[in-house]
Order: sequence, then structure tokens, then C-alpha cells
Amino acid sequence: MKQSILFVCLGNICRSPTAEAIFHTLLKERGLVELFDIDSAGTGDWHIGQPPDQRAQKAAKLRGYDISALRGRQVTTEDFNRFDYILAMDFENLKNLQTMRPEGSKADVQMFLSFAPSLKESCVPDPYYGNGSGFDTVIDMLEVASQCFLTKLNK
Ligand code: 4NP
Repeated sequence: MKQSILFVCLGNICRSPTAEAIFHTLLKERGLVELFDIDSAGTGDWHIGQPPDQRAQKAAKLRGYDISALRGRQVTTEDFNRFDYILAMDFENLKNLQTMRPEGSKADVQMFLSFAPSLKESCVPDPYYGNGSGFDTVIDMLEVASQCFLTKLNK
């Protein structure tokens, strides 16, 4: 059985596609890709079908991650039974997910950074409205959290 993980932010064009790519790269490095089903989505609907934000793409590329082929999608009710873990980037995302979550669904809905005790922050800050420097900080945090989460899964 594959482990399935959905990374969630608001727009699915900055943080969660970056998380998906970083986690995928980690799985590739460890030869674990076949054991996982991973994806990302947004709680909002503004960017459905759109590629990641240009600034996110550029920052990711400079750090060795190609997120250009990913396309925005919105979280669906079905996701709560498809995925084992649904990992929110901030408390607003978490609240929206908890509101959407159907009774009895299998997904474990958590804050992604709750698996990264070495980070002092609880949330991955939204870089969308910032001056651009936030994108690199997002990558730093997501790299740590991805390593920690994979360790928690005993991989
Ligand atoms: P994300 O960033 O949630 O990390 O993808 C955002 C993208 C778009 C918007 C907000 C945050 N927006 O308001 O359109």
C-alpha cells in the first residue's frame, strides 16, 4: 500500500507545489518514489489550472527544484478519503480543511510544521504578497519539514 500525502496551502501556486516538489525530490534521492502518492492543492479556487507563481518557480529552480509543470487545483471532498495525510501550511488552511472534512474520512489532517520541532515557526508564511524574499525562506522551511516528516514515517 502506498502512503498518500496531500500538501495544502491557499492558492496552490506558491507553498504547496513547492512542498510537493521538495518532498518528491527527497523520495527520489532515497529511492522511495514508488511507495508514495503525493499531490498538492489549495483551499481557494482562484488559481485552478494555473502554473505556480513565477517567483516561486524561479526561487525553486535556483534551489534545484522544477515546479513548472504543476498546475493549481482546489481541495475536494474526495481528497479526505484518498490521502492518508493532508498537511496544511498555515492555521487558516487547517481551519478550512477541518470545516470541509467529511465525517469518518481517513485523512489525518495536520499542520505540516508540527512534524518539524527544530523550527520555531508553526506556519509556513504566505510569500504571495511579500517583497519576494519570502520564497527562499519557504524553501528553507519546507526542506526541513520534509526531512522530518519522512523520518516520522520511518523512511
Ligand atoms: P499560496 O500563496 O497559498 O502559497 O499558493 C498564495 C497564492 C495566491 C493567493 C494567496 C496566497 N491569492 O490571494 O491569490
